[in-house]
Amino acid sequence: MPSILLLGVTGLVGSHLVLALKKNYPSFPVTVYLRNTTIEKYLTETAGVSKIVYGAYEETEKLASLAKEHDIVINVGSSVDPTSSHAIVTGLNQRPAGVKTTLIHMSGAGNFVDATSNTGSANPNAKVWNDANIKDMEQLHPEMLNGRADEVVLNAGKQGNIGTYIIFPTGLYGASTGPVKVLGIIQLLMYLKAKELGFVPYIGDGTARFNTMHVLDTIPPVLRMIDLAIKEETPQGSVYERCYIVGANLDKWIDLSTKFAEIFHAKGIVPSPVPRQVKLEDAGEGEITMLMSKDLLTRSERAESKLGYKPTQKPILEHLDTALGEYTLE
Ligand SMILES: NC(=O)c1ccc[n+]([C@@H]2O[C@H](COP(=O)([O-])OP(=O)(O)OC[C@H]3O[C@@H](n4cnc5c(N)ncnc54)[C@H](OP(=O)(O)O)[C@@H]3O)[C@@H](O)[C@H]2O)c1
Repeated sequence: MPSILLLGVTGLVGSHLVLALKKNYPSFPVTVYLRNTTIEKYLTETAGVSKIVYGAYEETEKLASLAKEHDIVINVGSSVDPTSSHAIVTGLNQRPAGVKTTLIHMSGAGNFVDATSNTGSANPNAKVWNDANIKDMEQLHPEMLNGRADEVVLNAGKQGNIGTYIIFPTGLYGASTGPVKVLGIIQLLMYLKAKELGFVPYIGDGTARFNTMHVLDTIPPVLRMIDLAIKEETPQGSVYERCYIVGANLDKWIDLSTKFAEIFHAKGIVPSPVPRQVKLEDAGEGEITMLMSKDLLTRSERAESKLGYKPTQKPILEHLDTALGEYTLE
């Protein structure tokens, strides 16, 4: 049975993925690599993992030698910092020639924000990135939000020893599962921004559009990539034909900020239940400010046709109260 190494098991995506691995591939031995030493019982008894190795991504030799021992590595831990990707690729490249080796990497659709406008207003000329369009995927580059790690994975795939698959989810909402409660990146950044400013902002007229999806909708496409990796004699197509954008809801930032403001106000995090309009320069630093200022327009045609991708969860504006209701936020 193929062995799987999972990075990111204590994260928003990884907390669900580890349970899905157990349910869908009960005979595959799963190793998890993580820092948190407090959930060993849960991981072995509930999540059914075979092996636990403690370490940080910065311990690159340890991570590389662990990757080398596994047939499939799934990295849902780090899309921005390429350190873990470098270590994984180093390890996987040391596996014997001819042994099937797969790397499934979770990047992010933040790569595809509109490069031409950051006013917070919808840009009618913003590019729509489509995973079925090879020319779009060939434009992936290291200056994009997750581009440095993508470059490591794409280059490894081009060398031919490792079958690489990259999934680019849009902004994730929903609650994590298991004993560690984490918000995931977008929900965390919205919370931190509200704490920083004392209100929930939107930029300009707030008509810039952002794509989101429920965390649970990321799981079936990742499982389908495992199916492809197991079934295919060699990885099919070019590395760019194994890039999949997944997303679900397209909303204006003013509507998203309104929903976050209502929830954060009800939890006592901000005094006002209404978001505040600000100029870009008054919204503070960081990734969420950048995302709020630009359109993010994507299509998932390849994910739909090759992975059967079809989101099934409630839209963010209907579900966020429930999702964030599971968290104690101060
Ligand atoms: N959430 C989103 O909206 C979104 C959207 C698009 C793409 N993505 C990408 O998809 C992936 C999964 O997202 P997520 O929201 O599930 O992320 P997350 O909740 O922040 O989880 C990150 C995971 O990686 C681990 N990790 C991070 N740095 C580490 C290090 N230096 N050494 C060891 N472990 C480390 C964390 O472990 P600890 O528990 O020890 O911190 C955690 O298990 C990420 O790469 C993210 O960038 C996320």
